[in-house]
Amino acid sequence: MKSFALVALCAAIAPVFGNIVPRQTKGKLPAVTVKGNAFFAGSNRFYVRGVAYQPGGAADAKDPLLDLPSLRRDVENFKSLGINTIRVYTIDNSKNHDEGMKLLDDAGIYLALDANTPKYSLNRENLATLRRSYNDVYLQNVFATVDAFADYSNLLLFFSGNEVINERNNTNAAPFIKAVTRDMKQYIANRKGRVIPVGYSAADVAENIEAQALYFNCGTDDERSDFFAFNDYSWCDPSSFQISGWDKKVETYKDYSKPIFLSEFGCITNTREWGEIASLYHTNMTSVYSGGLAYEYTVEPNGYGIVEINNGKIETNADFDRLKAAYAKTKNPTGNGGFKENGRASQCPSESDEWEVEGTALPALPSRAQKYMTEGAGTGPGLSGAGSHFAGQASEGTATAGSGQATRTPNGSAASGTSNGTGAAPSVDIPIRAVGMVAASVLFGAVLLF
Ligand SMILES: *[C@@H]1O[C@H](CO)[C@@H](O)[C@H](O)[C@H]1NC(C)=O
Ligand SMILES: *[C@@H]1O[C@H](CO)[C@@H](O)[C@H](O)[C@H]1NC(C)=O
Ligand SMILES: *[C@@H]1O[C@H](CO)[C@@H](O)[C@H](O)[C@H]1NC(C)=O
Ligand SMILES: *[C@@H]1O[C@H](CO)[C@@H](O)[C@H](O)[C@H]1NC(C)=O
Repeated sequence: MKSFALVALCAAIAPVFGNIVPRQTKGKLPAVTVKGNAFFAGSNRFYVRGVAYQPGGAADAKDPLLDLPSLRRDVENFKSLGINTIRVYTIDNSKNHDEGMKLLDDAGIYLALDANTPKYSLNRENLATLRRSYNDVYLQNVFATVDAFADYSNLLLFFSGNEVINERNNTNAAPFIKAVTRDMKQYIANRKGRVIPVGYSAADVAENIEAQALYFNCGTDDERSDFFAFNDYSWCDPSSFQISGWDKKVETYKDYSKPIFLSEFGCITNTREWGEIASLYHTNMTSVYSGGLAYEYTVEPNGYGIVEINNGKIETNADFDRLKAAYAKTKNPTGNGGFKENGRASQCPSESDEWEVEGTALPALPSRAQKYMTEGAGTGPGLSGAGSHFAGQASEGTATAGSGQATRTPNGSAASGTSNGTGAAPSVDIPIRAVGMVAASVLFGAVLLF
């Protein structure tokens, strides 16, 4: 983004927040917070023990939290599995989720939620589509999703993206993913009554996964992720802590200052004995990792599920039984699992053949999206919206470092070090790199190849 002309413009975003009254928090589970490289529920270390839950899969993305009879049925299985978290990839942000979230809350289950949908996401096809798809219409959808779920205390975290970088050759998406993370964090800090962890769910691309981890945790606090997660299928039973290479990954990330967890795991090359669970919640790993999510609940065409659904009836399979047994025999470590409280920001990776990101600058929040920070996002488009890849207005330039700093201090909760309440107005560099409309076919699903 070096060719952007730099003309500083002070965008006065009125720091008028006195009239924002956070709604009453819903739910009885304690909200989970980040401390150092770990999650905490109250004063207890929190480990993600979960499954991915998207019946119908990516092809037919529906909101599984609105189908209450099915959810009620499935919650019984979640309890039987002994999990504390589900991951949902697609929800309808135009609908109310009180009932579904209460079913989960009553069962002691948190939600890890993806903020994108196939039609409202970054389009990673090339640099031009990335630039074009980071626009105000997309961000309105993301912020509306935040609005729809922020009040539930069992909303564990938001994923700002999933596997957008899925090859060696599309690391150029990284600044856009990081900008979305920054914007979500700022929106939450400015408008919500609590801090909600926001981070990215990465594909385990050997050539660039470590650079991704460093990049999303480097720079100014406003743009650093609250956690780093990746989808890891490298433990294929029969295996071990050493054979899987997970021992080396612990070594790789031992100085990482934010929580790390597996946003998907469960290799199906051979019969799954779920041997990885004994390691994941062992002190071999818990100084660096905070658990993970087994992929996935229902059997879909890709063959990873642990229950079959036929005519509304579910039948658990042998994988379900083995997963349940593995969770049951693996307790969390006592005490704090060896977490580190005071880590530092990572060093940004330098540009290379495997990391095609020049410098550390991020695109600025599109100016038409700035009003959401003070006025709120309004109603989300839900799952029937027209999509955002070529809609609205793209970012006009690069952001000044620190521009995503919150402009108020949330009531009663620390603003994860991003704000001292001075109401610093972001300054935005304009103009302008004309972003050509790309006539290429729209590649939906840049964030949803699961
Ligand atoms: C990246 O590599 C994949 C094959 O791995 C190829 O299909 C795709 O066109 C490449 N993308 C770019 C932008 O070069
Ligand atoms: C823990 O690490 C030790 C030493 O590397 C290894 O022998 C043992 O199998 C590991 N245990 C688990 C459950 O990962
Ligand atoms: C805001 O903080 C005050 C003082 O800590 C507290 O009494 C009040 O309940 C809080 N309001 C909300 C909406 O959380
Ligand atoms: C608040 O932050 C601003 C910008 O980083 C800084 O100039 C100012 O001194 C800080 N104020 C306090 C009271 O910490």
